[in-house]
Amino acid sequence: MSESTFPAVSLIIPPVLPPVLAQIHMEAPPDSSSLANLLVEKLDGGAVLVDVRPPDSSEAIDGVFRALLGAVSAPLQGGVVPLSALPADKETVLIVYCRSGRRAGATAAHLLEAGYSHVYNAGGPAGDAHLWQALAKRQGEVIIPMPGGVLQLFDEDAPSGGGSSTLTYILTDLESKEAIIIDPVLEQVERDLAAIQQAGCTLVLALNTHAHADHITGSGLLKAKLGNDKIPVRSAISRASGASADILLEDGEEVTWANGKRRLRVIATPGHTAGCVCYYDPTMQVVFTGDVLLIGGCGRTDFQGGSSETLYESVHTRLFTMPDTTLVYPAHDYKGRRYSTIGAEKATNPRLTKTKSDFVELMAGLNLPYPKKIDAAVPANMRCGVQD
Ligand code: FE2
Repeated sequence: MSESTFPAVSLIIPPVLPPVLAQIHMEAPPDSSSLANLLVEKLDGGAVLVDVRPPDSSEAIDGVFRALLGAVSAPLQGGVVPLSALPADKETVLIVYCRSGRRAGATAAHLLEAGYSHVYNAGGPAGDAHLWQALAKRQGEVIIPMPGGVLQLFDEDAPSGGGSSTLTYILTDLESKEAIIIDPVLEQVERDLAAIQQAGCTLVLALNTHAHADHITGSGLLKAKLGNDKIPVRSAISRASGASADILLEDGEEVTWANGKRRLRVIATPGHTAGCVCYYDPTMQVVFTGDVLLIGGCGRTDFQGGSSETLYESVHTRLFTMPDTTLVYPAHDYKGRRYSTIGAEKATNPRLTKTKSDFVELMAGLNLPYPKKIDAAVPANMRCGVQD
């Protein structure tokens, strides 16, 4: 099948078409089975899958969030796709998907305007089943049960946020009406409380993956604001962090919530700091990796008891041993990406696919600037953000 037979297409035409896409639509679109074959062929030739959905429960269909292994997460923000998440080479073939194909169509238009020349709309899991099945068969499908609410929130720059680019997670259980939060940010406490209130839930746990150096945790302020609630919110961090909190966690321990129906397993992953842990949710089969494993990267290792040898060991023995289809929810991303998978990181993470000695050498040569907020953030986070 030649490329000229099927130029870049959008299955659903966005409301305002740039001239190039309008011109493309003059030609008859291929049927779904021909398009499926074409897209699979493109993947064999190095095309990149681009998922423009936020990875949260609003995108779940029948309580399940489905993605394709190896997709680049680049959710639309304010109607615009973050180009920093995409390959710089504008000749790269991009296959874009969302839930139904509508946002993928709008994205295709935006990407063509931005200079990308080969953009295809693959619809989505709620769209053409034939098309989705062909892509899933080629790539491997990631199936994430989201029985309750899952919200991923980003800490924007001032004035709306603290500028730490932290990804905070709120999980809610609609039966027990309990909510938990992972890696809250001080400047975003009002935003987080509003989200929890909107879900009709009560916050019971504020979990931290480590004592952060780039922002003060919201745990202390959340406790202060919710101090009079019937069920008080409890802060948690690892015992190995040396910080004080209501709950000090050990490796292998399980944190339960929602009347014991939901749990998170604590996985010690030192290396970015000596006390870093990841939280694994067996219901959803997702791992909250903090700063240890980031999308295509990892946290720095030059302070707070950090060690590049230890980080490498933690990732390879504790995280890369998980199933490839485990969803990775990191604590930061600076390029607009929002999720990854263990399989993708194992295969393509430019730092962690190196040998241990090459990784250690790379980390030793980073020469990163001293974090702006570390002198205030670390002492505050050693008390889990509780003020005297
Ligand atoms: Fe950190």
